[in-house]
Amino acid sequence: MKYNFDEIINRENTACYKYDLRKEIFGRTDVLPMWVADMDFRTPGFVIEALRKRLDHKILGYTFRTEGFNKAVATWLKKRHGWEIKNNWVAFSPGVVPALNLIILSLTRPGDRIIVQRPVYFPFFPAIESHGRVLVNNPLKLTDGRYQIDFDDLEKKLTPNTRMVMFCSPHNPTGNVWSREDLQKLTGICVKKGIIILSDEIHSDLILDGSKHIPTASLGKDVSDLTITCIAPSKTFNLAGLSTSVVITSNGSFKKSYDKMLEDIHVGGGNLFGFAALEAAYNSGEEWLGELLGYIGENLRFLVDFLSKNIPQIKPVIPQATYMVWLDCRQLGLDDTALKKLMVDEAGLGLSDGTLFGPEGSGFQRMNIGCPKSILAEALERLKKAVVERMKH
Ligand SMILES: Cc1ncc(COP(=O)(O)O)c(C=O)c1O
Repeated sequence: MKYNFDEIINRENTACYKYDLRKEIFGRTDVLPMWVADMDFRTPGFVIEALRKRLDHKILGYTFRTEGFNKAVATWLKKRHGWEIKNNWVAFSPGVVPALNLIILSLTRPGDRIIVQRPVYFPFFPAIESHGRVLVNNPLKLTDGRYQIDFDDLEKKLTPNTRMVMFCSPHNPTGNVWSREDLQKLTGICVKKGIIILSDEIHSDLILDGSKHIPTASLGKDVSDLTITCIAPSKTFNLAGLSTSVVITSNGSFKKSYDKMLEDIHVGGGNLFGFAALEAAYNSGEEWLGELLGYIGENLRFLVDFLSKNIPQIKPVIPQATYMVWLDCRQLGLDDTALKKLMVDEAGLGLSDGTLFGPEGSGFQRMNIGCPKSILAEALERLKKAVVERMKH
């Protein structure tokens, strides 16, 4: 291994969301934080160098997105996912969640129905409801430890006011990588009914098990022209604090509406460090990413093995992608308040409560394993001890 993912870096007192907000989020500062989706690994050296180089210029004035940015995005997508995009399909966003909100504001109207598939990344909900759109849930089905799309339910929920499907691919929190068949079925329905597909593919570079991520828009021209995709280097290369992400659509009218929204609120100019980091990451990141995925894969194997041997009541839904693991804790027989107490106060772990992702997440917890193995091992030992104690009562 060329890169050292075992290194422990103290992130405290760096205005670090994950560590420095523990008191606010969990009511105590001593939990091992394994919640928000960033990693405890060093941001790669080639990214840091690119930032240093930019800083060395010594003037940090207004900037704009260059062709180098668009080219880095296009080259990365072709190389990693076989998706060929044109430079003029690319737009900027200061984060994927801002993009989701801006896309909904620019492509839908108040009262429009927007479909989500819970349990799902919870900022999807206010992106719909806080703008007066109507959230329609098409819950995923959990069968034999795998989540699946319920297409019959989806078809039943469509009305003439259904304007958009907000799709998470790969899926957070379940870690699902959707198959070509799933994508064809979903997009087939959308094409037939003229429903816009907002495809959040922020986790698409984090494939753990050799599955293939298929960009939704790559399915064909009819699908591409109904799809608006969000990606970012932020999860993949651990640079979420730079607030830089990418919106892609081949639909000129979608692109125009989105760009206008961005310009109207004056955030299209972007962030010069974000631009430098994105280009460095996408132009030089393959080797580092290969090693990262190997390391996370090892962490996942360790966790699965540990749980099955020591805490068989907690069953992980094995993620095909992402460094988040969706833990099915229902066999512990605790309600959600007691489950949270077990994790936070008894085990000293700061995980994400399953119910954040919708009521379908009741009895689940999401654990971030993007950390040195020694931290994961410590977390699992703490959990084992707490469960053993709890089972005595
Ligand atoms: C599916 C999904 N979309 C978006 C984000 C966050 O995106 P950003 O930080 O760029 O707003 C996350 C972070 O966990 C996520 O899981």
